[in-house]
Amino acid sequence: MTKLQIGLLFGGCSGEHEVSIVSARAINAALNAERNTDKYEILPFYIQKNGVWQGNEIANQILVSGQALEKPNATNINTKSSLWEFPPQASEVDVWFPVLHGPNGEDGTIQGLLTLMQVPFVGSGVLGSAVGMDKIAMKTAFAQAGLPQVKYMTLTRSQIWSNPCVFPKLCDEIENYLNYPCFVKPANLGSSVGIAKVRSRQELETALDNAASYDRRVIVEAGVVAREVECAVLGNDNPKVSAIGEISFESDFYDYETKYTQGKADLSIPAALPDTISNQIREMAIKAFATVDASGLARVDFFYVESTGEVLINEINTFPGFTDTSMYPRLWGYSGIPFPELVDKLIELALERHKTPEIEALIN
Ligand SMILES: Nc1ncnc2c1ncn2[C@@H]1O[C@H](COP(=O)(O)OP(=O)(O)O)[C@@H](O)[C@H]1O
Ligand SMILES: [Mg+2]
Repeated sequence: MTKLQIGLLFGGCSGEHEVSIVSARAINAALNAERNTDKYEILPFYIQKNGVWQGNEIANQILVSGQALEKPNATNINTKSSLWEFPPQASEVDVWFPVLHGPNGEDGTIQGLLTLMQVPFVGSGVLGSAVGMDKIAMKTAFAQAGLPQVKYMTLTRSQIWSNPCVFPKLCDEIENYLNYPCFVKPANLGSSVGIAKVRSRQELETALDNAASYDRRVIVEAGVVAREVECAVLGNDNPKVSAIGEISFESDFYDYETKYTQGKADLSIPAALPDTISNQIREMAIKAFATVDASGLARVDFFYVESTGEVLINEINTFPGFTDTSMYPRLWGYSGIPFPELVDKLIELALERHKTPEIEALIN
């Protein structure tokens, strides 16, 4: 049997570059597990922080060392960042497996490139990735679908920065509509980068200024006191949904440090929830998946306000953390799909999604 060549694409120009390497190591190991070795051959590709693509040799070294390439070395590294200098092995790939988190990877950009290449790839397409990544577009779509969420307001960098007369009025409006505490977030990041919980006018002003330095668009949300629960979705048009997991931590909110420092957050699977709430969460997750037009996989995150019994959707992640200890693969492990089978299914789903009548007609 000829093996499918899987283009494992990782690294990337985002704050989650290092996490991508850890996810890629775990996925690479799972693709090389005994049940998959007859089916797949892995061709790794590494995208440096500056956007330069590296082929199999260097990508393999990074998978082994787990260390990002910080300083390109002129002797063995292609330092040109032009996209027409792809590593030559890229043309051998049958299915791409982009393992990229955050901007320039989970947001439709890579998906656009892979769509142009006309080679199947794992995960959501351009639309699902872009809508899932942008908190303003995502919340607008969720609102339209009738998914309950916290109250929010949106602002642009120019509103925040360029008009000293308008800015205090905007802050007044935020205070009146959302109250304190509220959360200020850049529309398009991830891993809690640039997010602040604010409790006063002064903190609000600082947080807006900071968020505007990360993104042209900013969202401010009413803060809720709630449990944070997540579930995993797997599939294309008729996706399956996993058990529900809960994240708990001591810090003020689930910030960057809490997310990435060992021992600062606990994952409980399954979350201790009444059945009615678990079922509601699962239904909402499937609706959210379809609403943004996700495919393959997504993790959908919720706030469960225990005091009122309300479930509010927080966000969808179209390429969630995928390390051995990450919520997404652990939820499936608990729900009966071990890691090696999970990556196999994702490739099958990529092939299924890309087998459209349009492509078939072109080929035949
Ligand atoms: N409206 C909110 N109310 C309460 N906590 C929030 C709210 N928004 C965000 N948080 C806290 O901040 C964390 C990160 O916010 P989130 O929108 O999920 O950003 P990211 O996409 O970076 O994960 C959440 O997991 C939660 O702990
Ligand atoms: Mg989050």
